[in-house]
Amino acid sequence: MQSAQASRNVFDALTSEGHIFRNRSVLSSDYVPEDFPHRNDEIDQVAHILRPALEGSRPSNILIYGQTGTGKTAVARYICDQLKDKVTADGGAIHTAHINCKRVNTPYGILANIGQTYTTNWEDSIPHTGWRLEQVYAALCRKAEEAGGIALVVLDEVDALVKKSGDEVLYHLTGINADLGNARMSLIGISNDTKFTTFLDPRVKSRLGEESLTFPPYNALQLRDILDQRAGQAFHEGALDPQVLSLCAGRAAQEHGDARKALDLLRIAAEMAERDGSRQVTVDYVNRAESMMEQDQVRKMVLQLPLQHKAVLASILANESQSRLDRQTTGDVYDTYYRICNRFELDALTQRRIGGIISELDMQGVISARVVSLGRHGRTRFISTAVPFSELQPIISDDSFMSSALDLAADGHFVRPQLRLM
Ligand SMILES: Nc1ncnc2c1ncn2[C@@H]1O[C@H](COP(=O)(O)OP(=O)(O)OP(=O)(O)O)[C@@H](O)[C@H]1O
Ligand SMILES: [Mg+2]
Repeated sequence: MQSAQASRNVFDALTSEGHIFRNRSVLSSDYVPEDFPHRNDEIDQVAHILRPALEGSRPSNILIYGQTGTGKTAVARYICDQLKDKVTADGGAIHTAHINCKRVNTPYGILANIGQTYTTNWEDSIPHTGWRLEQVYAALCRKAEEAGGIALVVLDEVDALVKKSGDEVLYHLTGINADLGNARMSLIGISNDTKFTTFLDPRVKSRLGEESLTFPPYNALQLRDILDQRAGQAFHEGALDPQVLSLCAGRAAQEHGDARKALDLLRIAAEMAERDGSRQVTVDYVNRAESMMEQDQVRKMVLQLPLQHKAVLASILANESQSRLDRQTTGDVYDTYYRICNRFELDALTQRRIGGIISELDMQGVISARVVSLGRHGRTRFISTAVPFSELQPIISDDSFMSSALDLAADGHFVRPQLRLM
């Protein structure tokens, strides 16, 4: 008995060949495909701009714009790898860095990441703190000069860097070639916010955007081609219901042509089917995967709300759950909000500002604020949650502020017995 158990491993059943996946890694978010359907023009344009690097000259800096999931990051990685292979094969020197500025968004962090492409001992020679930016910059210039060659630095989500740390480091980096003799540096900035350059010093703006291009969103047919390419590698023959790829493509096309959404939908649907021990990914799994992704999105959005927004949302929920009224006005929300602020020693904003926050929550889809006419009494908004309470409850319970506000409301601390109807 014991020996039979010892010879069995709980993972045995999980590692044996399934019916669905042949190679699941091609659906992972960091997989870089060898070929990008419907991005040939963009790849050609970027390759032309970077061509001078093959002769050891500095290519222009490039700004790449495009909505989420249009292939900016993946294409930039692919082109950098291709350029690196080509230059290295020809005996040239090239250094490439791909920096995600949502994660690395301090001037020091950016310079350190670039420094590490030149030398393995950057961390040892440059202290983490105590140096002025100019000193770190001068150290980077020295390392670049020692190493020589071209550096291609991708600043992905570059708007996050500007929002967090301003444009000082970009000012240095876009002017670095004037301080270099033996080395050259080009930048590729990527952003889905076309307006971020309005916050830049005009010199930085024109130097960073020497060239710019926009990746357009994909339509349903293009997404279908992208999915087809991946599905061929990822799945066993017959593992997908014939309608599944078109359905995933169509759903993602409705949402600004996002290839990430299309691929995630397919991957999650397939994982659900696999977990069920099913032989085929059906339309039903895609629908379930989509509703799971929507719930995840609501969770992320609610948990990342600023505190004042959370206080307003908690007020709306408290009113709704306590009074069972689905017709709260801004005044009703404000009354409860004001009590929550008192209780939690939060500075209460004006009713006008709360009206603005209600509109933002409405736009984000978590509540609905319907404008209704009251005849000669003018107009008002009836406010209610747009996500079922059963879906919101587990999210709220993961947030200590909102859950304590709701607990207190449940004990009758904030809500007046009868809300006004208008
Ligand atoms: N033309 C394409 N062919 C194959 N795969 C693609 C194509 N376009 C995008 N993808 C894939 O879609 C996913 C999302 O692409 P990517 O991460 O490059 O988007 P992005 O434009 O950088 O989005 P974000 O602005 O949100 O960062 C990745 O897995 C990528 O490999
Ligand atoms: Mg990206």
